[in-house]
Amino acid sequence: MPQTVLSVDAIHTYYGQIEALKGISVHVDQGEIVTLIGANGAGKSTTLKTISGLLAPKTGTITFLGEVISGMPVHKVTERGVVHVPEGRRIFPTMTVEENLEMGAYLRNKDPKGVKESMERVFDLFPRLEERRSQKGGTLSGGEQQMLATGRGMMADPKLLMLDEPSMGLAPVVVEMIFETIQKLNKEGITILLVEQNAAMALQVADRGYVLETGGIALEGTGRELLVNEQVRKTYLGEV
Ligand SMILES: Nc1ncnc2c1ncn2[C@@H]1O[C@H](COP(=O)(O)OP(=O)(O)O)[C@@H](O)[C@H]1O
Ligand SMILES: [Mg+2]
Repeated sequence: MPQTVLSVDAIHTYYGQIEALKGISVHVDQGEIVTLIGANGAGKSTTLKTISGLLAPKTGTITFLGEVISGMPVHKVTERGVVHVPEGRRIFPTMTVEENLEMGAYLRNKDPKGVKESMERVFDLFPRLEERRSQKGGTLSGGEQQMLATGRGMMADPKLLMLDEPSMGLAPVVVEMIFETIQKLNKEGITILLVEQNAAMALQVADRGYVLETGGIALEGTGRELLVNEQVRKTYLGEV
């Protein structure tokens, strides 16, 4: 039996009076890549923000490794190994690459050895970041900024890494590289929850996926099942 690491049960999340999530239930098992796809405004980012503690669900429960995390502040959720790489990357433009990475480890001040190992791991994964370690974050290309945002997430020593639209705005060859990195991280043992508008790429790398529509789950299945699903092909893969 696969071990479920993350269980999201019937969460409802609001922005003021607006109900953005209308009962979302998803689970992620140990070692999986799970993707959430869906149109702009479907509730993908809100789901990740609710899991990471940036937003609290009005009702519903989120459990990580057997512990209820819904209602906890972000740093507590991060400490437990749930790490969110937000949409739009949000790197610190005036800080160097190395300083940006150090920010990702802000909760690990009692573990300098582990932080150093994580930094080496990030530089192994992204040699370009090592070459640019003293360069200001804001001067990096879009692809390099995505590497930096992902690397900063790695610095928190994630068990579950949640990536929000990592391929957004990047050239196809860079997108390929980002997806290869996601698979590599997963092979190294990190469980991945991936939000993407690039449904074709996401479903190719994912073990399972969920299709979100206006705050609810419209469809779920294995990556392969969703890739061949007629509704998914028409709506999200641009086929007629
Ligand atoms: N800060 C906010 N204030 C009010 N409404 C928001 C806010 N952020 C998102 N929403 C609304 O919540 C819904 C889901 O948005 P979001 O989770 O960002 O979708 P997605 O990531 O799938 O594009 C949308 O209707 C969006 O307009
Ligand atoms: Mg979004």
